[in-house]
Order: sequence, then C-alpha cells, then structure tokens
Amino acid sequence: MMRYLRAAALMTPLMEVGASFVVGAILFFGGREVIFGRLTPGAFFAFLGAMAAAYAPVKNLARTNAELQRAWTGVERLFRILGEKTSSPKRRKPDFSGLKQGIRLERLGFRYPGARTWALRGLDLEIPKGARVALVGPSGCGKSTLGRLLMRLYDPAEGRMLLDDADARDFDAASVRAWGGLVTSESSLFNDTVFQNVALGRRVVTLSEVERACETVGANAFIDALPEGYQTLLGEWGFSLSAGQRQKIALARVLLKNPEFVVLDEATAHLDGPAEKEVLAALETVLAGRTVVTIAHELRSVVGADRIAVLSAGAVSESGTHAELMEAGGLYRRLFDLEDAARPAETK
Ligand SMILES: Nc1ncnc2c1ncn2[C@@H]1O[C@H](COP(=O)(O)OP(=O)(O)O)[C@@H](O)[C@H]1O
Ligand SMILES: [Mg+2]
Repeated sequence: MMRYLRAAALMTPLMEVGASFVVGAILFFGGREVIFGRLTPGAFFAFLGAMAAAYAPVKNLARTNAELQRAWTGVERLFRILGEKTSSPKRRKPDFSGLKQGIRLERLGFRYPGARTWALRGLDLEIPKGARVALVGPSGCGKSTLGRLLMRLYDPAEGRMLLDDADARDFDAASVRAWGGLVTSESSLFNDTVFQNVALGRRVVTLSEVERACETVGANAFIDALPEGYQTLLGEWGFSLSAGQRQKIALARVLLKNPEFVVLDEATAHLDGPAEKEVLAALETVLAGRTVVTIAHELRSVVGADRIAVLSAGAVSESGTHAELMEAGGLYRRLFDLEDAARPAETK
C-alpha cells in the first residue's frame, strides 16, 4: 500500500514537472529553428499539437505503473504465503504419536516477528499427562502466546518444548497440531454450513458424528431450530449466531477432533452468566480424561486445578495448587484478593 501510494503521489508532480521541461525545451529549440528559417512555423505548430495529443496517453501509462505497483505488492505477498515451507517433503519428520509422561517447557523464550520485546522469556513449566493446569496472570503477560506455542502454532526462539523427552521440533508440526485442540474466546466461523464448520479440516466425517458432537456440548437444540438445520449457512454471509452458540460450535469442533491435549484460552470470556454455565458444563464432558491447560482471567474458575502457574512478564513467577499459592502470599494471593473484593457480595 505504501509503495502504491508513493507511486501514485509521485506521479502527478513528476509528470507535470517533466512536461514543463519538455514544453520549454521544444519552444526553445523549435523556436530557434523557426527563427533561423530551418523550420516552417506551420511544421513547428503541427509538432506542438502532436506533443499535446501525446500527453494524455503518457499520463495514463504512468497511472498504469502505479496500479501495477499495487498489484505487484499483492502478488509478492501471495507468493510469500504460498511459498511458505511447512515441512521439507524429502526428509519428513516422524509423526507425534501421543504423550506418555507429559510436556516440559525449558527456559522457553519467544518474540513475535518484528517485536522488540520478548513475549516470553526463561519460562519453565511442567504439564503432566492427564493433569489440569491453569495459567493465570495480568493481561499481556504472555498467556495466549504460551497457548499458541503449546499448540506449535509458533516455535520457541529460545529454550525447548519437550514432549516426553523429545523436542517438539523433532516431530512433524502438523501431527503435533492434530494431537492438540485449542479453544479461544474468539472462535472463527467460516462462510459455510453448520456441518462444515464443525467438521472443519476433517476429511471423512459423517452427519451422525457431527450431530453426536453437537449434542454432547448442548448445541443440537439451537442448530435444529435453524432454518436449514445442519445445512444452514453461517458466518459473514450467512446466519449469525450468539457468542455462546459460536462457542458451542467451537467446542463441538474440538470434540470431533478428539484431541488428547486441550488448551482453553479464556474460552468463556465473552459469555454471560447462563451461557457460561452451560458451556462450562459442556466442557466437563469434553475434557474428561484429557490433559488440559486452562487460561483464565477469573481466578475463581481455576481453584480446582491440579496446578496453577502464575505468569508475570513472560515467565512463571509462582506455581502450585490454590491452597499452596494462597499460603505463599505472592502475586496469586494479591490477584485473588482483588478479584474477591470486586465481586458483588451475593455471588460469593
Ligand atoms: N500477534 C502478535 N504480534 C506481536 N505481539 C504480540 C502478538 N500477540 C501478542 N503480542 C504481545 O505479546 C505479549 C503477550 O501477549 P499475550 O500472550 O496475548 O498476553 P495475555 O494472553 O497474557 O494477555 C504482549 O506484550 C502482546 O502485546
Ligand atoms: Mg490472552
């Protein structure tokens, strides 16, 4: 866009200045030829007329250049994405087959491309298989970033993520992503049918499987009420759903994927009281027996976790169970007391 704007903004002044010089030069040299009698005035004016007629097409050409610049930037970006290598086809890494003991993060560091500061730095964390681990901390401390790294949407810049005893990078990235499931507070719906939105990315899936997943998360009632049931178009161009309904679609999606490891990144943040209760109940069924990392902004909702890790400025500042952290009287205690004080008395 910058390049296009620059080309477009430069075009008019350059053309005008260029044209002035050209007209000046023609008048000077042509006029001299006429004065010395080497050129007739008629031929000179005919030439001037032809030059004036040529001005508009030349200007159009310059405009075409500006458009070309714009198209070219688009093409460059498109091909950068198309050319992105996910895994080298020659020496394909082995597939990740599942966790035996747990995930271990060692001195993990990560910086977003182009960012000056580290989003995570020197982070150590252990997630035993089958455990429920909660991540809490002030906003901007890197919780969502950690969630993305756990899903291998990004690879760490420093340190390692170990799956059992092997570096996550030694496995095929797609197989690690297939092993986990991520639910965020903003789940994307695509301009497609309810069925395709739930089946997302799965090649072979039957309607009854999709229906079963939707039933488990309590989404079947509102889907059946849609004009064309599972074939209703959703998204920007289709039927729009409430935040709670979207979230249930996202949960059905994860359930159908049947991952061994689930990251919930403030999955109920945009829901009101009753919708949150419903989704939490649905989550219980979805998550039974899986390794779960819950990212929460409300500490109250993670009290029962096996382990709570408190993040601050990109690293784990303390971890333990709710009781241990309350006992320790650190950041967790402070955040918990703040939250407690802010809550209306009748909900305590
Ligand atoms: N896509 C991104 N590109 C660049 N910086 C980002 C991006 N996402 C988050 N950040 C930065 O990384 C830090 C951690 O963000 P995040 O993980 O979203 O925090 P949290 O989820 O704990 O609120 C913040 O400083 C944020 O500004
Ligand atoms: Mg976040």
